[in-house]
Amino acid sequence: MRKIAVIAFVIAVLGLSFAYIIIQQAPELIFGPSPAVIKMKLPEPRQDGEVSIEEALLKRRSIRQYTGEPLTLQEVSQLLWAGQGITDPRGLRTAPSAGALYPLEIYVVVGDVENLAEGVYRYEPVEHELVKILEGDKRTDLATAALGQSSVSDAAIDIVVTAVYERTTVKYGERGIRYVHIEVGHAAQNMCLQATAMDLGIVTVGAFDDQQVKEVLNLPEDEQPLYVIPIGRK
Ligand SMILES: Cc1cc2nc3c(=O)[nH]c(=O)nc-3n(C[C@H](O)[C@H](O)[C@H](O)COP(=O)(O)O)c2cc1C
Repeated sequence: MRKIAVIAFVIAVLGLSFAYIIIQQAPELIFGPSPAVIKMKLPEPRQDGEVSIEEALLKRRSIRQYTGEPLTLQEVSQLLWAGQGITDPRGLRTAPSAGALYPLEIYVVVGDVENLAEGVYRYEPVEHELVKILEGDKRTDLATAALGQSSVSDAAIDIVVTAVYERTTVKYGERGIRYVHIEVGHAAQNMCLQATAMDLGIVTVGAFDDQQVKEVLNLPEDEQPLYVIPIGRK
């Protein structure tokens, strides 16, 4: 009896080990093929420019109408870098973050960008690249979620800033919520000034239905949308 139990135990251990190796090495054999992850390295952002910080502050205005001309990939790269780009070997970014915990995520809803297909992309600051998460032009759906604001559907792109509150509240408790809201302002202002320096139109939109925006972007459960930022040529 004892011998049978030992043999059964050995078989069970071997079986589990085999399953573990398969899951690690060839998960598609068990879970099926994984969807292709489309990543796109962005052009290097500029670290100089012709417009002074004072001039950008002076000229920044909410612009809600755009010509419809496409943006370039270089401009998209520059705007994303301004919002959350890495500026230090320790991983620190353009915008300050309480405890350097970085609760913000940035998405780009692409409509008209040269050499970049319509769709929704997530910005990866460390790699300075875009990861495609949805196919197709979502600007009209996003505008509907933003109470029908035409700036959202007419822009070449809409940047959507979301937050994972837990990254900050795990250290700062309830006060972390305040910190996250302060941080989205830092990131948005960076992008406003960068867009102004590049002579692009930009407006920061806070009036939208949270749940609808989550659905349009297919956001993870723990991510909350905080800002929608239309950008286009003026
Ligand atoms: C938190 C916040 C939410 C805003 N929401 C909207 C919005 O939903 N739609 C819009 O067109 N502008 C929105 N704005 C832009 C303001 O209307 C704008 O900043 C204000 O009229 C001052 O104009 P200026 O940005 O040109 O200085 C928002 C601004 C802030 C700071």
